Amino acid sequence: MSVPTVPLNSKLVLENGKEFLIGGHQKVDIPLIGLGTWKSGPDTVSKAVETHLTQTGSTHLDCAWGYGNEADVGRGIKASGKDRSEVFITSKLWGTWHKKVEAALDDTLAQLGTDYLDLYLIHWPIAMNSTDPKNGPLIPLLSSGVRDIDHDWDLRRTWTQMEALVASGKVRSIGISNFSEKNLKKILPLDVLRARYPGETFPDDIVETKIIPSINQLELHVYNPQHALVKRMSEFGVRAEAYSPLGSGDQSVLEDEVVVEIAKKHGLAPADVLIGYLIKKSIPTLPKSVTPSRIVSNVKGALDAREKLTDADVEALDKLAGEGGKQKRFIMPPWPVDLGFENWG
Ligand SMILES: NC(=O)c1ccc[n+]([C@@H]2O[C@H](COP(=O)([O-])OP(=O)(O)OC[C@H]3O[C@@H](n4cnc5c(N)ncnc54)[C@H](OP(=O)(O)O)[C@@H]3O)[C@@H](O)[C@H]2O)c1
Repeated sequence: MSVPTVPLNSKLVLENGKEFLIGGHQKVDIPLIGLGTWKSGPDTVSKAVETHLTQTGSTHLDCAWGYGNEADVGRGIKASGKDRSEVFITSKLWGTWHKKVEAALDDTLAQLGTDYLDLYLIHWPIAMNSTDPKNGPLIPLLSSGVRDIDHDWDLRRTWTQMEALVASGKVRSIGISNFSEKNLKKILPLDVLRARYPGETFPDDIVETKIIPSINQLELHVYNPQHALVKRMSEFGVRAEAYSPLGSGDQSVLEDEVVVEIAKKHGLAPADVLIGYLIKKSIPTLPKSVTPSRIVSNVKGALDAREKLTDADVEALDKLAGEGGKQKRFIMPPWPVDLGFENWG
């Protein structure tokens, strides 16, 4: 059984006929289920990657320089025996590297043992101060203990470096992660901003960007569906991708009575329902596991759920956070800036 894909790169054509690449110029499709690798230990992640690539029918890995395990992921890819062209690999630019994007990518490529990525994301819309991103601390801190942020850094300067990677062929598609609409506006091409925000003025002398991000990877699950943001992004051609679909180790979504009820009705596991709900909406979803049986069931069960979930089930799950009063975020690092998200904190 192979996992369905959705198109990643495309074009936005404005009403005045101007065209903008979304993601990049190549045709790229992304498999709807990928293996998450955050917090997967070095001793387990290689086997997890190998299991995902060889036993699930999916060949999509969600990695990040900041996870500190890309070399182990690379060993898993090698052990799988898969040809590079059969694997879809995402990685992310960590916050200490915003001023040296190509160097960050090169380090990631070397660790993963590949010469290109399918998708490269800005991990967070925040540049941290660092003189030595490779060997310095992952999260530089001020003496007060607060994260050391470059508050004046222009994200457009990060984004133009990401655009250059597409031109060089080292990355097939570029995107973002943890961007609210407020931060998405900080990197969109000027013509797109002017067309989509007719009531606002934008200075002519801002750094010019050309490509619209293909993906915004966000915390998305039944308790944090971010319906308004997902809809707004689609108006720019930016696709949502779901991280922490199972609640990131917190049992509450897996044990939610509505989720459990729907799972029982269809003979599924709660995790199948949670992943199936997202992929039924064509949202690429990234469950993490280092447990071989779960790695397999999280793909096979979710594909089963995608077929079995009814419109009424999806509607009930859509309403859990809002009308159901169960809104909850699990991933809220202590950034000393307002990220512009609803329901943060
Ligand atoms: N862009 C970002 O800032 C960002 C932030 C967070 C996450 N992510 C990405 O998204 C991925 C997934 O998010 P996440 O790791 O936060 O959490 P998650 O996938 O929602 O949950 C992972 C947890 O669920 C357990 N689990 C897996 N399958 C299960 C099943 N079938 N039944 C019950 N429990 C199950 C895992 O345990 P075992 O491993 O022990 O099986 C682990 O404890 C990450 O790994 C990462 O790749 C990105």
